[in-house]
Amino acid sequence: MSDIDIISQYREQFVTQLKKRTVFTEPKNLYEPVQYILGLGGKRLRPILTLMTAEVFGGKVEEAMDAALAVEMFHNFSLVHDDIMDDAPLRRGRTTVHEKWDVNTGILSGDAMLILSYQFLESYPAETYVELTKLFSRTALEVCEGQQYDVDFESRDDVTIPEYLKMIEYKTSVLVAAAMKMGAIVANASKRDADAIYEFGRNLGIAFQLQDDYLDAFGDPKTFGKQVGGDIMENKKTYLYIKSLEKASEDDREGLLHLYSIKPEDSTAKVAAVKTIFKESGAVEETKKAIQDYTQKAFDALSDINLPDDNKALLRQFGESLMERTV
Ligand code: IPE
Ligand code: IPE
Ligand code: MG
Ligand code: MG
Ligand code: MG
Repeated sequence: MSDIDIISQYREQFVTQLKKRTVFTEPKNLYEPVQYILGLGGKRLRPILTLMTAEVFGGKVEEAMDAALAVEMFHNFSLVHDDIMDDAPLRRGRTTVHEKWDVNTGILSGDAMLILSYQFLESYPAETYVELTKLFSRTALEVCEGQQYDVDFESRDDVTIPEYLKMIEYKTSVLVAAAMKMGAIVANASKRDADAIYEFGRNLGIAFQLQDDYLDAFGDPKTFGKQVGGDIMENKKTYLYIKSLEKASEDDREGLLHLYSIKPEDSTAKVAAVKTIFKESGAVEETKKAIQDYTQKAFDALSDINLPDDNKALLRQFGESLMERTV
């Protein structure tokens, strides 16, 4: 079987279980949004990584399933709340929960999903449960910290690259890293291997968020599934923005600072002007280079792990496929 087929197989196994394990009835206004967001699909990147990592370390997919469910449920909770915070109209090509229902519904359904994510971990034996929950809670708190930095940075114009990198490490990459480490924990991998796979996931997650920022500005609206230009509208301090300030001509630099101090009703002209500066400053190239660098760092972390080459190749293939994504 090709690596692509193996990855699809993990996704199918996961989605089958997800459907079985998310049957809820009343109150409808609490649970329908949960089923709606989970049913919209998405790449299922994190649970696939949990299942794959468990198997790579000699564990079973079935044993890792509840951890994978916890991770995907948590991720979807974070998206529902993130879309409220980012005032986002679209998610996975469909209306966001708070737009389809309302903000209060998004808040409470999100809360329920966070609790449901922890419930999935209750099936593990005491020792594994403690280890998984400790990692999960630390990660969840870091995601909150990252989200707060992301919002704080909207109203600053002096965010540095190290600050930005810390922000995306927390809001995005620690969950990717934890998803993998949870697979390693379930499979009883050594601490050294579990830590190395966390490092792989952490760097891959940084590359993933850099790519997300790039696609947010330059993705194809037909396939991207989110509002293209949304980060620009919200004055998000992305790698593209910070590098543009660093590299653009004095005129463009001032133009960009001005554009990022306003929130016009009709943002079409603002988005177009900002994208031109991102391109002409060379920030796009810098971003693409950073995506490659962090993916390479992830691959370097694999050399510290004691695994057969085939298994490492599968992890690498997964990383490569993420770099080429359009969604
Ligand atoms: C979206 O995550 C949020 C980010 C951290 C960029 P994904 O891009 O994994 O979203 P889905 O689950 O595939 O829709
Ligand atoms: C999302 O970051 C991080 C979390 C959901 C914790 P973004 O705000 O960039 O994610 P998208 O672009 O809305 O998916
Ligand atoms: Mg968002
Ligand atoms: Mg956000
Ligand atoms: Mg984004």
